[in-house]
Amino acid sequence: MKRVIIDTDPGIDDTIALLLLCASDDVVIEGITTVGGNVSLDQVTRNALTILELAGRTDIGVYRGAAGSMSGGEGRHVFAHGEDGLGNLGLSPTSAVGAREGSAVDFLVESAREHPGEMSLLAIGPLTNVAAAVLADPAFVSNIGQIVLMGGAEGAGNMTPSAEFNAWSDPVAADVVFRAGFDRLVMVGLDATRQAHLTPGVRELLRQLDTPVSRFVHAITRSYVDFAFAEQGRLAAELHDPLAAAYLLDPAVFVSHPANVEVCTEGLCQGRTVVARSSDFPHLTPNARVAGEVDAGRFFTLLLTTLFPDASELITRVVAHEYR
Ligand code: RIB
Ligand code: CA
Repeated sequence: MKRVIIDTDPGIDDTIALLLLCASDDVVIEGITTVGGNVSLDQVTRNALTILELAGRTDIGVYRGAAGSMSGGEGRHVFAHGEDGLGNLGLSPTSAVGAREGSAVDFLVESAREHPGEMSLLAIGPLTNVAAAVLADPAFVSNIGQIVLMGGAEGAGNMTPSAEFNAWSDPVAADVVFRAGFDRLVMVGLDATRQAHLTPGVRELLRQLDTPVSRFVHAITRSYVDFAFAEQGRLAAELHDPLAAAYLLDPAVFVSHPANVEVCTEGLCQGRTVVARSSDFPHLTPNARVAGEVDAGRFFTLLLTTLFPDASELITRVVAHEYR
């Protein structure tokens, strides 16, 4: 049973990652920390509470983190996720359960200290909170067992030709995290997540499964797919954060490679993760494992059968066809 903290900026793909881990019997979610990114800190925090209500998991604490980035300015927002970050469905939390007292950084540091070496940290937004925890407690890095982060890219970015959104939003924080010396850092970048795309067929399956969660995911991915088509002319939307989350449940969802990763913190390539795979650059000390080839069928089967276990046979059949 893995102990997990999720640092997140929900966000449509964050939502699916949170729903996946809430539905899994293989993890204990110790808490969720929020960071401004896809939308404002207030909105991502409201969205996290909404998602936990839908998942029936208001027992999980939500801790507010950074509104802006270490690199200066308020977190930068893009509207792939709708103005409200959840596909413009106008959802908001209905229960009186709000965010917990205490900051995200304090929660990260104290939780890691309570369970030294046991905690898995899933970071699926800008790395501002994580970097602040690294700087706040010299023991944080060794107390965290592994960090799995969605961010960066070996190749082209999605916010600039060089930079992926999470790294681009706070490159100074990303630089702190990659230099921190985590024993087990897994970088799930765009080169991997672009292989994990939600096809129209799988999205239609969500509609046909007709459960509260499947209807919710079908609805919130509407604007996500519209944005992908408008921006990239593609009918599929990339499930960036759910792929990183799935690694915690099944590391075989992708192949990873040791690499030295450095972050450009200024200039034209600001936010670029410069990935030097150890196979190509053996003289550079590896500080991460970088996700490469994805088994999309394995990933979507895991995602959908965890969310909808009663439909496992149908899901296996549809996924085999969609990702043949
Ligand atoms: O580049 C994709 C990442 O940026 C994902 O985490 C998405 O939620 C956005 O935060
Ligand atoms: Ca995210």
